This record gives sequence, structure tokens and C-alpha cells, in this order.
Amino acid sequence: MLKYPSSKTTYDTTIPDSQTEADDSLSSAPKSKPIPTRKRRALALFLLFVWFYFIFTVSFYLFSFLGNHYHHALHVLNTAASKTYGGMTDTYQSITNPARREEVVELMTELYELLAEMGYYDAAMIGRPPHNPGINRTLAAELEFSLEAVEVMEMLPYLQQGQEEGPLGWGADNNFLLSGTFADLRDDGVLSFTRDPMFAIEDSSKGFDEDGGKYMRPNYVCLSLPGEGYGAIMILDVKTHQEVMGLQADPALKGIGLEEVPGNMFSPENAASRLARDALRDYIRRFRTLEWIPGGRFNGTWDGDEYVRLYKENGWPESFNSTAFNIAREQWEEDNMARWDAEAPFHEVTKLDYWIQVALDDIGRKRKMIADVDSGMEIPENKTDREAYKAELQEEVKKRIESLPKLHAELEVAREVLKSIDPEVKKTREERIRKYGA
Ligand SMILES: *[C@@H]1O[C@H](CO)[C@@H](O)[C@H](O)[C@H]1NC(C)=O
Ligand SMILES: *[C@@H]1O[C@H](CO)[C@@H](O)[C@H](O)[C@H]1NC(C)=O
Ligand SMILES: *[C@@H]1O[C@H](CO)[C@@H](O)[C@H](O)[C@H]1NC(C)=O
Ligand SMILES: *[C@@H]1O[C@H](CO)[C@@H](O)[C@H](O)[C@H]1NC(C)=O
Repeated sequence: MLKYPSSKTTYDTTIPDSQTEADDSLSSAPKSKPIPTRKRRALALFLLFVWFYFIFTVSFYLFSFLGNHYHHALHVLNTAASKTYGGMTDTYQSITNPARREEVVELMTELYELLAEMGYYDAAMIGRPPHNPGINRTLAAELEFSLEAVEVMEMLPYLQQGQEEGPLGWGADNNFLLSGTFADLRDDGVLSFTRDPMFAIEDSSKGFDEDGGKYMRPNYVCLSLPGEGYGAIMILDVKTHQEVMGLQADPALKGIGLEEVPGNMFSPENAASRLARDALRDYIRRFRTLEWIPGGRFNGTWDGDEYVRLYKENGWPESFNSTAFNIAREQWEEDNMARWDAEAPFHEVTKLDYWIQVALDDIGRKRKMIADVDSGMEIPENKTDREAYKAELQEEVKKRIESLPKLHAELEVAREVLKSIDPEVKKTREERIRKYGA
């Protein structure tokens, strides 16, 4: 690799000679005594070697640094300049420790394994490369994925597709991360879907920079999908290893709005992003510390905190027993349903209160409309006759007023039932509402 050994050899053979000579000259010969030609040549050779070694080493580091980091450094500088987040720390990290695709693959694997460890699904469901059948390369080419994107897709682990058979874990709708769902890119349908995960393409003949056109560039790989449309999408740029969370869902990037740039408003490059490495490590930490619970729950909510309690009671994290946890979890879900039923008299009162309020609001609104008709204001276009329109409104008000006694009577009954509710049910409900709201 480096020329260190050879220059070392030069050092060993040359210096002792001249050193011996120098020592000799110190003791006996005059100081101006010229160095013999042979020794001078050796010294010159030695200095040449040292010089060459120096130049070689410096250039080696310089060129290897530039070679490895030029593209990435360029991108990072670009990003740091144009984005609010992704500044100093990321820039420093990327230059000293550039992101690699293997890291993303390792961290995605770790995340899938962690969810299995947490009892969300069986570890056997994690499909690891090489995949057979793998990514449909024909389709990927048709969809204009870059070669790098396809390579990364082939390296990633996947959870077996289970859309038809129901959720993969115990969360609803294959919940993976922040209500986003698992993306099994080995499935042709899923692969196609990742080209328009935000349902935003109006005209696929339009380019990446036109509104309504395509917005997922060839280097973008979806690590998760938005499910019903409200979940977070994780989008990986395989060139820069930056990860964009669709809908600005990444907690670390909260509050950073989409940039106002010309072109396609759905372009992920307009959104805040951070290195996939940082993002995935952060998500793993959040699951590990039970801030996020598999299945779409999170701490600080009633059911989230109950799940945290169940995890801890079953040994999380040091001696977790997922079998015992899942038994306790299913029991808790059953108890929670029973609790909901036991609290039915509260729900009845709340519901009737709400309906009465709706009726009163509607009466107030319609009476105002009647007054507006009387004062000569415009009536809707599809109403031709003012008097008929007014009579129609009055009829609606009358019906609402007539509905009120029945609602009030029902409310009386519901309140009566509520008086005899189990005090224990009442107490725990009040405690819960005090902490988490209704
Ligand atoms: C791969 O995709 C192409 C293009 O859509 C399709 O014609 C082909 O049947 C797919 N191959 C497999 C093995 O599903
Ligand atoms: C959630 O858990 C994390 C990590 O344990 C903790 O830092 C955070 O304060 C918790 N949040 C709430 C709202 O309980
Ligand atoms: C885990 O819990 C199950 C169910 O309670 C129990 O049968 C099993 O022995 C436990 N495993 C360990 C290693 O404690
Ligand atoms: C009349 O127009 C209003 C809106 O101005 C609309 O809500 C209503 O459905 C229309 N009614 C009919 C019969 O077309």
C-alpha cells in the first residue's frame, strides 16, 4: 500500500553509515571536512526517498479523500446551503464518515428484527436477500428506476406481503412506522405504487419539475408506504443516502415546512431530510425506549402507556418474554373492550348532549337565514321563490324543535342510568381523562 517499508529500508542502510562518519569526524577530523562522494550520493538518495515518500503520502491521502468524498461533499454542501436542517453535524459526519448503502440495509434489518423481538410478528417473516423471486428488473426499468436503486432494493430485507391475508403484525393495516406500512418491493404492484405514493401524479407525461407530473426520481426508493394515505412514507435517495419522511412526519424535522420552489410541489427534494443513518438509528432508539410502540401506538397516550407498562412488566428490555407479553397484550385488549362497554352510560350521555347541541345550533342558524330572507338578502341560485324558501326553512326549524323533547327525555334516562354506574368504573375513567383527556 504505502511506501513506508522501502523508505524505512533506505533509512536503515543510509543513516548509520553517515552517522558513523559524522561521529568519526566529530572526534578527529576538522569540521569543514567534505563528505566523501559515495556517502554524499547515499545521503542525496536518502533525501530523495524522504521527499518522494512525503509527496506520495500526501497525494495518496489527498486523492483518496477527494475521490471518495468529492461527490458526497458536493451534495452535502449543497444540502447544507439549501436546507434548514442537515447543517453542521450532518456535514461533519458525512465527510468524516460517509454514508454507505450497506448501512441503510443493516439498519432496516435491525429495525425489522427489533419489531420481531418486540413481539410484533414472527422473525421468520423477515425475508432476507438474495430474494427469490427478486425485484422485477423489467418492471423496474419500465418504471425508470436507476440501476443503483434496483441494487439497493435487491439488498434490502422485506416483510412477507400480507395485504390479502390481513395485517402482518397486531397493529391495524400493516402498521410499520408512524402509521406508514411495510413496503415489499418484490411485489410488482407495490413497486409500481412507489412511483406515486402520494397519489399526486395527474399527468404522467409531465416531467419531474412540472406540477402534476412525476415526482419520484429514479434514485428514490420507498422504505415504507403511507398505507391508507395518512401514514409516513420513508423515501431513500440512494445517491446521497438522505432520507425524506413524506408529510414531514420525521420528529426531528418537525416544523420545517416545504420549501417554496418552482416545479413539482410534491418533489421530495423540496422537503427537509436527514441522513438515513441518523434517521433510522433514531427510529430504532424510539422503539427500543418504548417511545414508539409497534402497531402505531406511542407513549404519552392512554393505550400507548398501557402497552409500555405491559412491555416493562414482561421484562423489556433485558429479559423480555414476547410470548408472555402477547398473552398479556391480548388480555389487555379484551379488558379494554369490556371497559368500553362498562363506560357505555357515559357515552350515551355524551352522545345525547352532542345531538341536542347539534339541533340547537341548527335552529339558531336557520333562524338567522330566515331573518336574512326577511331583510331582503340573496337566496341560493337553485331557489326560485323567496316565500317558498322561507317556508322550507321554517319547516326545518319546526322539525328540529319537535325533536328536542324526545332527546331531552332520553338524556334524562341516560343520566339516571349513569347515577347507578359502578363507582370503580367511574373512578378509573376520571383518572384516565384527567391524564389523557376524553
Ligand atoms: C415483470 O414485469 C414485466 C413488466 O411489467 C411483466 O411483463 C412480467 O410478467 C413481470 N415478471 C414477473 C416474473 O412477474
Ligand atoms: C416517551 O418516552 C421517552 C423515552 O423513554 C421519554 O423521553 C419521553 O419523555 C416520553 N414521552 C411521554 C409523553 O411520555
Ligand atoms: C415466557 O412466557 C411463557 C408464557 O407465560 C412461559 O410459558 C415461558 O416459560 C416463558 N419463557 C421464559 C424463558 O421465561
Ligand atoms: C341548491 O344549492 C345548494 C348550494 O347553494 C346545495 O347545497 C343544494 O344541494 C342545492 N339543491 C338542489 C335541490 O339542487
